[in-house]
Amino acid sequence: MDRPLSYSYVIEGKNFLVAGSVSTEIKNMLKDLGVGAPIIRRVAIAVYEAEMNVVMYAERATLTFELTPRSIRIVVDDRGPGIPDIGLAMQEGYSTATHEMRELGFGAGMGLPNIRRNCDSFSIHSTVGKGTTLEITIAIN
Ligand SMILES: Nc1ncnc2c1ncn2[C@@H]1O[C@H](COP(=O)(O)OP(=O)(O)O)[C@@H](O)[C@H]1O
Ligand SMILES: [Mg+2]
Repeated sequence: MDRPLSYSYVIEGKNFLVAGSVSTEIKNMLKDLGVGAPIIRRVAIAVYEAEMNVVMYAERATLTFELTPRSIRIVVDDRGPGIPDIGLAMQEGYSTATHEMRELGFGAGMGLPNIRRNCDSFSIHSTVGKGTTLEITIAIN
């Protein structure tokens, strides 16, 4: 019973056509499982922002999603340029989005702060030239 339900998804960098599909898929699955709307909302925001960061800045990532009766744990492990200054990246409004991305409506620099705000635990580790790993949990109840 306490064994987690676990799923894994691949996110491709630069693929704006399917961007957001993982968060939609997870949102629908949680709805089907009867998880409460406030929890679903927090998970959907966090997954969407993490997914968009991979699409915009990384090459490829695996997103692992684990659901237990007590919590939801999400790990997004990407291969990409990494983040040289995580403190700076965490600041509201900081973004290295290109002009093209801004024209599509991205680059507000609120993604990482919003992820942190919607989670009960948050950790991000990055190695420049290798990639970034984001690990978050959202408690249920
Ligand atoms: N997975 C990632 N790989 C490399 N850089 C990233 C990644 N996620 C975030 N960043 C860096 O952190 C900055 C802030 O991210 P975020 O708060 O989501 O804002 P935004 O996506 O609007 O730029 C990004 O502009 C980018 O420089
Ligand atoms: Mg972002």
